Amino acid sequence: MATEHPDGRTPEPPLWEQWAAQRANLPGGERLQKVLAATGWGSRRVCEDLIAAGRVTVNGVVAELGRRVDADVDQIEVDGAPVGVKPGLVYYLLNKPRGVVTTAKDTHGRPTVVELVPAEPRVFPVGRLDVDTEGLLLLTNDGDLAHRISHPSHGVEKEYLAHVRGRVSAGGLRQLRDGVELDDGMTAPADASQPNPGVLRITIHEGRNRQVRRMCDAIGHPVLRLVRTRIGPINDRSLRPGDWRELSTGERRALSEAVAESARRYAPPT
Ligand code: URA
Repeated sequence: MATEHPDGRTPEPPLWEQWAAQRANLPGGERLQKVLAATGWGSRRVCEDLIAAGRVTVNGVVAELGRRVDADVDQIEVDGAPVGVKPGLVYYLLNKPRGVVTTAKDTHGRPTVVELVPAEPRVFPVGRLDVDTEGLLLLTNDGDLAHRISHPSHGVEKEYLAHVRGRVSAGGLRQLRDGVELDDGMTAPADASQPNPGVLRITIHEGRNRQVRRMCDAIGHPVLRLVRTRIGPINDRSLRPGDWRELSTGERRALSEAVAESARRYAPPT
């Protein structure tokens, strides 16, 4: 809301707000509740209630019932979480086997993760797993979500099972939890437990290169095998190595919510 200047003049709202206000008055487009319902937020009636409760914004402005939107242009959020409404976007969950590289094309001719999913539409991996790391990897053509998920400092949480050399002491676990000194700086606090001797469950939200392996090296327990078991709210114990499936609408929604939550929790205050 624009506040009045001491001299009585109302200052111009920022350009972004002017653009959003103009778009809100444009005719055409689809009804917002229809677009929300299509992305899994519930029936149109439920979506109308969300809008009426003021929980939906379009281009940063709280939406009113009757609002029409262009899903290709307008940025729609529910409770601050972006709603993936752009048509043509695909989201695959792959269980990456060991020995497969996380690039679109490998200069050494090794198999790549994109060869394990449909070729069209073209997708790219979200973040990176080392060639020797196994487990869950997302591939998508939604660049915006991909960027937010794998943000270097406030990406969504990722959980790994690390089989390491030797049994880790309580002190070693505490070091992992508090943060360890790596050559590119201290790691942020992490969750770390040892469900079985020599098997660590580690959850991090940073996305540094070979981070888990380097953390384990730093406490004197090199990794023998590394498996990613969860990306934010997404896990799947029945997906076999080399298999993939599409994310469900509910999973996409949960992922968007997790991305917004990570940004709130971990992004440095501005
Ligand atoms: N940490 C690592 O060390 N390797 C991976 O592939 C992912 C996280």
